[in-house]
Amino acid sequence: MAIEIQRLGVAGGGQMGSGIAQIAAQAGLEVSLYDVTEALARAGMEAARQRLARLAERGNLSAAAAQEAGSRIHPAAQLEAFARADFVIEAIVENEPAKAELFRRLNEICSPKAIFASNTSSISITRLGAASGRPALFIGMHFMNPPPVMKLVEVIRGLETSDETYAATRSLAERLGKTTITVEDAPGFVVNRILLPMINEAIFALQEGVGSAPDIDTGMRLGTNQPMGPLELADLIGLDTCLAILEVLHRGLGEDKYRPCALLRKYVDAGFFGRKSGRGFYLYGRDGKKTGVTVAGTST
Ligand SMILES: NC(=O)c1ccc[n+]([C@@H]2O[C@H](COP(=O)([O-])OP(=O)(O)OC[C@H]3O[C@@H](n4cnc5c(N)ncnc54)[C@H](O)[C@@H]3O)[C@@H](O)[C@H]2O)c1
Repeated sequence: MAIEIQRLGVAGGGQMGSGIAQIAAQAGLEVSLYDVTEALARAGMEAARQRLARLAERGNLSAAAAQEAGSRIHPAAQLEAFARADFVIEAIVENEPAKAELFRRLNEICSPKAIFASNTSSISITRLGAASGRPALFIGMHFMNPPPVMKLVEVIRGLETSDETYAATRSLAERLGKTTITVEDAPGFVVNRILLPMINEAIFALQEGVGSAPDIDTGMRLGTNQPMGPLELADLIGLDTCLAILEVLHRGLGEDKYRPCALLRKYVDAGFFGRKSGRGFYLYGRDGKKTGVTVAGTST
């Protein structure tokens, strides 16, 4: 029998969790949005409500539908809010011990029937499934950034993921308006296995002075028809997240070609996380728009 999903728990109210909460609420699900503090959970909900309001202003959604969807997102600073969830999507920081600990706690709190999905960009679904204590009900559900805009969800089966869990996850992704691909549980799956080495190479080119950040990005936008250049995209993803993914690729695949560029490490050490911190390869204003370029630690 198909699994009925009405109540969704989303862990992590950052750019991905907030976006996933938004599209789930638009699809009629009741969503608990959890983060480590009440303020962060609320900020995730507010960001989703603001995007919904903008959709209504532009005539892409009725004002009533935007209002209703916004009211289906409930911020929470306690994981116990997920006790009645049918399905949980985890979108916290890209750090394996943090994710494993969260799933261990969720296993104690949630119904034994609830499905757990991780939105990890790169970490082993089989290992997280084992840590969760419910590997048959565990799966990878990798949304792209920003979730309300990007059409793809990579679905990753762990070694013990059941057919029912897989079917329920694909059907949830379709309900959220997404197209799925199914990929094997390997470091970085498909999209980031291919994307991150390109971003890393762009950072090496910048570090070696082959081109400036705007020239590298314009080159790749106009020269290869990508909507964003690799350094702009790295800033959107988050440089901390890019570094974490490259480390998983490097460790997991064991090849030098995945070694993170030193400049990326330096920027993360300096707290330049990209758009979300206001500075990465570019500088950003409060509205998220570019205001300048970072040149080896100085800004112009
Ligand atoms: N940024 C992207 O382009 C992208 C795309 C696909 C998947 N992902 C993955 O999604 C996840 C989240 O990425 P993001 O870009 O939203 O990051 P983010 O930095 O915007 O947000 C992470 C959120 O998780 C919260 N958090 C950290 N530890 C927590 C914990 N123990 N419990 C609850 N909340 C916790 C933080 O407070 C923050 O609000 C990562 O696994 C990332 O790899 C990111």
